[in-house]
Amino acid sequence: MILESGYKKRRDRLFKKLAKSSVALLFSAEASTRSHDTHHPYRQDSNFYYLSGFKEDNAILLFVKSSTKCKTILFVQKKEKTLELWNGKRLGVKEAKKLFLVDEVFASKDFKKVFDEYAQKKKNLYFELNRKKLGIKKIVKSAKDFKTKQDIIPLIQKMRLYKSAAEIELIRESIAITAKAHHRVMSVEKTGKYEYHLQAEIEHEFKMNAAYSDAYTSIVACGNNANTLHYIENSKPLIDGELILIDAGCEHNYYASDITRTIPVNGRFSDAQKEVYTLVLETQLQIIRMIKPFVKRSHLQESAERLLTKGMVDLGILSGDVKELIKKKKHKKYYPHGIGHWMGIDVHDPAPYRDTKNQEILLQKGMVLTIEPGLYIDANDKNVPEKYRGIGIRIEDNILVTKDGCENLSYAIAKSIKEVEAISSHRCSSIQ
Ligand code: GLY
Ligand code: MN
Ligand code: MN
Repeated sequence: MILESGYKKRRDRLFKKLAKSSVALLFSAEASTRSHDTHHPYRQDSNFYYLSGFKEDNAILLFVKSSTKCKTILFVQKKEKTLELWNGKRLGVKEAKKLFLVDEVFASKDFKKVFDEYAQKKKNLYFELNRKKLGIKKIVKSAKDFKTKQDIIPLIQKMRLYKSAAEIELIRESIAITAKAHHRVMSVEKTGKYEYHLQAEIEHEFKMNAAYSDAYTSIVACGNNANTLHYIENSKPLIDGELILIDAGCEHNYYASDITRTIPVNGRFSDAQKEVYTLVLETQLQIIRMIKPFVKRSHLQESAERLLTKGMVDLGILSGDVKELIKKKKHKKYYPHGIGHWMGIDVHDPAPYRDTKNQEILLQKGMVLTIEPGLYIDANDKNVPEKYRGIGIRIEDNILVTKDGCENLSYAIAKSIKEVEAISSHRCSSIQ
């Protein structure tokens, strides 16, 4: 759990990055319409949440830095009986002032007036340059001429690259729920079922464990559907003898998990499936072993490409010299994506991969990333031995970089052929 003092510490760190004599603005997420008058569940903007822990709509954070002091001002929706009757309780100004360690709280409707006052005599303005809808530009334009106008987002994203102990704990909790979901789906009877039935099993486990939402729409892709990387249709029948690629992770207390397992419909891998699975798994294990501070993500990417390409040559999926094949990008047809990404409040945490000098950011203690090699062989690919056609496999775990190595935060989720087959045939009850 992140305490109020934790959010305040983050704001204090942000203040250190702001130039003297500046104001900075951050807006809450907007409610989003699903269709006509129905709405998606509201979810706070990740950067706003990161700096405030405040979950309501129509809120604004104003940071004021003068030569002598720093002030944080939170704007929240006023309490309004009728609207609250329909849409739920609001905290309101008074309660927000009690709960949050900010210097002042005002009603959002008073924003313009308060902002104009604080913005006077300030030289620099930070705001979300790329946020279009909110009329920020109008506010900013009507305020006054600032000497500089800068994007606040990169400053926050850089902070989000390093996870605190409390954040790591929240990620562990999120992964623990996702682990239950993957084990549930491995062990359920699949005969006669459809992909969406497995999606329902996953979401059942998420919700039963108080993870209200998935961190992204689950991918439940049977057979050749796994070769569509972002397959979220989840509408096809499960076919005996095929594999199912399941990429699913919950969001719990605003922290994501992102796990992929590839499992057999009938509980047993065929020999051909085992060959491809073993290649992906051994690649993944080897890449995870390489993770430690000062390693480049691009090095992990290149190593995964080399291992997978060599393995594909051994299996007869590709033919030729490994180096040449990589140079000509021949492997990309079967492994077209990255080795992994930052993960945190967002599943693809938008922390930077390069620094301001365009140098690659090296792995450091406290970073969390996914490692997710895969191989995708289309059912109609005549260049590949027939036995491998239609196989799509990805294996994905969530890794914490530690002082001298790394910790696989999702190590407990069954992954070896033996473990997966055991759970699938109800022979292993201990892994839950
Ligand atoms: N679930 C999305 C990804 O693996 O990046
Ligand atoms: Mn991922
Ligand atoms: Mn994933």
